[in-house]
Amino acid sequence: MAGNHPVPNYTHKPVLYQKVLAELRPAPGKRFIDGTIGGGGHAWGILEASSPSGQLLGMDADPEALLVARERLEAFGPRVTLVQSNFVRLEEIARQSGFYPAHGVLLDLGVSSLQLSVAARGFSFLRDGPLDMRMDPGLERTAADLVNDLPVEELADLVWRYGEERHARRIARAVVAARPLSTTGELARVVARVVGHGGRIHPATRTFQALRIAVNDELGALEAVLPQAVRVLAPGGRLVVIAFHSLEDRLVKNFFRQESRDCICPPEMPICSCGHKASLEVVTRRPLVPSAVEKEHNPRSRSAKLRVAEKLAAT
Ligand SMILES: C[S@@+](CC[C@H](N)C(=O)[O-])C[C@H]1O[C@@H](n2cnc3c(N)ncnc32)[C@H](O)[C@@H]1O
Repeated sequence: MAGNHPVPNYTHKPVLYQKVLAELRPAPGKRFIDGTIGGGGHAWGILEASSPSGQLLGMDADPEALLVARERLEAFGPRVTLVQSNFVRLEEIARQSGFYPAHGVLLDLGVSSLQLSVAARGFSFLRDGPLDMRMDPGLERTAADLVNDLPVEELADLVWRYGEERHARRIARAVVAARPLSTTGELARVVARVVGHGGRIHPATRTFQALRIAVNDELGALEAVLPQAVRVLAPGGRLVVIAFHSLEDRLVKNFFRQESRDCICPPEMPICSCGHKASLEVVTRRPLVPSAVEKEHNPRSRSAKLRVAEKLAAT
């Protein structure tokens, strides 16, 4: 037991759990937004540490995640508000739910172990299932649609850009030759034949990452939510983001850097004409990463990078 609430028996181990709590600084009477509540692992810690009166607004694009989170967080009663939504609507939902301003916003990006473990969701090359990969089942386009319908150049470009996969062109050609593909297993085998099994990671890792990012427009959503999170925060409130690959992390790093500067004119401008004012102070000059022990116990944490920024007063 921790406090009055049973410790959750939860199959998704929250990444960088203690560091997230230390940086978010949950306290009684404060309001927190978890934009990626998943199964509620971090949320549970936030609620516990902000007992008895901290409030939490949790959102997730995936209705199944919300079911798990709802059950997990039931004991916290009316302190929890859950909404099924993509976090691109963070600002609107925060206003509607009475979380404007909020004292902390957490984004723990990517997929959860729950999603990876269910073959039918189509996220994992380790489990044979339909090529789906939608976090929100209401989305129109699945991974199968991309794999089977995109012209070869577009498919190669997608795998190159979102997977940073150097074999992208050869993979795209092999996929097109093997069409139609309907399962994760079929796709993983086609990719493995091209890439070979010699590397440190599964040969299909980058291709699956690329398709997942494209299906869910993950980078577009991240770009859209970051400025909203800053607006939603009260001065002194913190934005905590965990990224799992370099494309996400670069986006967060560049956003934090830009928003912590008063002028963002190109360097060749003799005087400032942008009028930009800093809205954030970067708390983590370098990203926080999991310890060797955490990586060993939770392999999904291996690539995690946590960045924190604090909202400045009077912006
Ligand atoms: C890594 S898991 C979060 C796990 C959570 N922190 C926990 O401790 O249980 C990421 C979650 O974010 C959700 N997600 C990813 N992108 C999203 C987006 N743009 N909008 C809403 N939810 C998103 C996924 O569906 C997934 O449930």
